[in-house]
Amino acid sequence: MTGPRIQPGVLDIAPYVPGLSSAPTDRRLVKMSSNETPLGTSPRAVEAYLGSRETLHRYPDGAAVQLRAAIGDRYGLDPERIVCGNGSDDLLYLLATAYAGSGDEVLFAKHSFAIYEIAAQSVGAVPVIAPACMLGSDVDSLLNHAGPNTRICYLANPNNPTGTFLSSDEVGRLRKGLPDSVLLVIDAAYAEYVRREDYSDGIELVDCHDNVVVTRTFSKIYGLAALRLGWLYGPPKLVDALNRIRCPFNANGAAQAAGVAALGDTNFIDAAVAHNEQWLPWLENEFKNIGLTVHPSIANFVLIEFDHSPPRSAAEVYNYLLGNGVIGRELNGYGLPDCLRFSVGLKEDNRLLVDLMTRYFKADE
Ligand SMILES: Cc1ncc(COP(=O)(O)O)c(C=O)c1O
Repeated sequence: MTGPRIQPGVLDIAPYVPGLSSAPTDRRLVKMSSNETPLGTSPRAVEAYLGSRETLHRYPDGAAVQLRAAIGDRYGLDPERIVCGNGSDDLLYLLATAYAGSGDEVLFAKHSFAIYEIAAQSVGAVPVIAPACMLGSDVDSLLNHAGPNTRICYLANPNNPTGTFLSSDEVGRLRKGLPDSVLLVIDAAYAEYVRREDYSDGIELVDCHDNVVVTRTFSKIYGLAALRLGWLYGPPKLVDALNRIRCPFNANGAAQAAGVAALGDTNFIDAAVAHNEQWLPWLENEFKNIGLTVHPSIANFVLIEFDHSPPRSAAEVYNYLLGNGVIGRELNGYGLPDCLRFSVGLKEDNRLLVDLMTRYFKADE
């Protein structure tokens, strides 16, 4: 064979399949496939974004000083221990690059966020998938699958796509049980939505241990998914390593400006939390009333399990909804072919979804 050689394993990677965002139809589409906030973006963030057009010809601040200071202020953290990225995906990949290599193992639970597997494979590491318990990450299962070659354990908490979570005690037990040589990456992309006493995003573990890092995002409750902005809080050595290998301008100028403004708009965030607190349980109850199997979620989306075979399988329901203007999320790639995930939408969108489901499932009763 001639030509440049692609690294072994790269062509074995199954590309990430994002939630569908459009369909060939004239009707208004309701997108409930990517766990974005239905409330749009804070007007203050939009204004800051528009203001950034004055400096489009300039490189942004590669150290994201103002943004890190604003994150530090908002969450009570030392800005020196924060790294920003082009979405938290960027940071998840960078962690794989910094901590894992050819032949190493990267551990995560079944049905957890798809990027972990791709990030592991992209650096030549072997993904090790620990069986889940009730669709959620299970500490004993993860610990049983950690071995001498494990370098990273990714934990989505809450988990996407299942909406399950590990309590702070359980995450503490996981950290304690993992060898010191394993980096525990706590991916808390949905932390802002969670209202449970027994949940923590894990930041307190970072303060006490040098093998824990927490990643967060502006893509969900902050409504900045298109701008691609994430951050992590980690031990000084990790921060130093990532600052050496990241692209020098991996958080763009518009994203930094909008991010700072979004952090300051607490009314917008409070409204988003209140909206979710109202509509997540509403959706869960309505689906249960229809007789569907609903997996409890603490995030901004809900997972529903359907019959394994037609006429009411997940694939059929998905197509029916799509034909009626509602985009859900198919989960074949997550080992959940009988499930669909729906993000909490606006009031009218949630009602439309439930109306359509009711019509579909009650049709021949
Ligand atoms: C658990 C989890 N982590 C990370 C991400 C990626 O977020 P970002 O948009 O910051 O790259 C997502 C996005 O869906 C997610 O669900």
